[in-house]
Amino acid sequence: MCNSIADYGIIRQAVLAGALKYDSLDPRAFTGNPHRSVDARPYGGGPGMVMKPVPLAACIDAAKRSNPGPVVYLSPQGELLNQSMVEELSTVPGLILLAGRYEGIDERIVESRVEREISIGDYVLAGGELAAMAIVEAIARLLPGVLGNQLSAKQDSFSNGLLDCPHFTRPERFEGLTVPPVLLSGDHEKIRQWRLTRALARTGERRPELFANINLDDFRLNDEQIELLKAYQLEQEDD
Ligand code: ADE
Repeated sequence: MCNSIADYGIIRQAVLAGALKYDSLDPRAFTGNPHRSVDARPYGGGPGMVMKPVPLAACIDAAKRSNPGPVVYLSPQGELLNQSMVEELSTVPGLILLAGRYEGIDERIVESRVEREISIGDYVLAGGELAAMAIVEAIARLLPGVLGNQLSAKQDSFSNGLLDCPHFTRPERFEGLTVPPVLLSGDHEKIRQWRLTRALARTGERRPELFANINLDDFRLNDEQIELLKAYQLEQEDD
């Protein structure tokens, strides 16, 4: 499952470009017993199984021999992932992503080997693999030399703390719906303003809490942007 992502899309491109080295290890290979069992019933009882510390420790220690990076454990209890964390992780020379299964992993592994615990959202997956893969993809597209158009990573959602503006392409009329005329005007300054207004408005409508997270110094919300937002809000009130 984990290896398959290296065969497709942006992760494959990142690997081919030499920007990313990606490998996975199976804790079952470190069990040293013929049943290859990696889980056991929880002490104290209760439902489900817990991943045993011995094979996990051996697996992590093996990974550490070729990857000096910090161990990141994926779990719903972790710090909620966002784009600025992805940006930060993309600059770390290596990462060991630890995916748990079942009810989780023995806590002593978290204490002895895990530097960081990350969640990709407030919902529960059956295991951390998809969460790890999401992180790998989010990082891969930021690595230098990976995205064809380096500008697109800078311009997309969240890179400035805002949601993205709407996008349109050919044909001009689709099922009776047209494209906002400003986008056909060729006036780059007007287009920039339109996009910024829509990004601000969408953020305000859908994720107003993001405004609170924005570091105003990073974002440099200038007078023009404030005016744009006010104008859009007035427009909404008129409708
Ligand atoms: N493992 C199970 N659910 C998860 C989540 N939401 N994020 C990260 N790892 C997980």
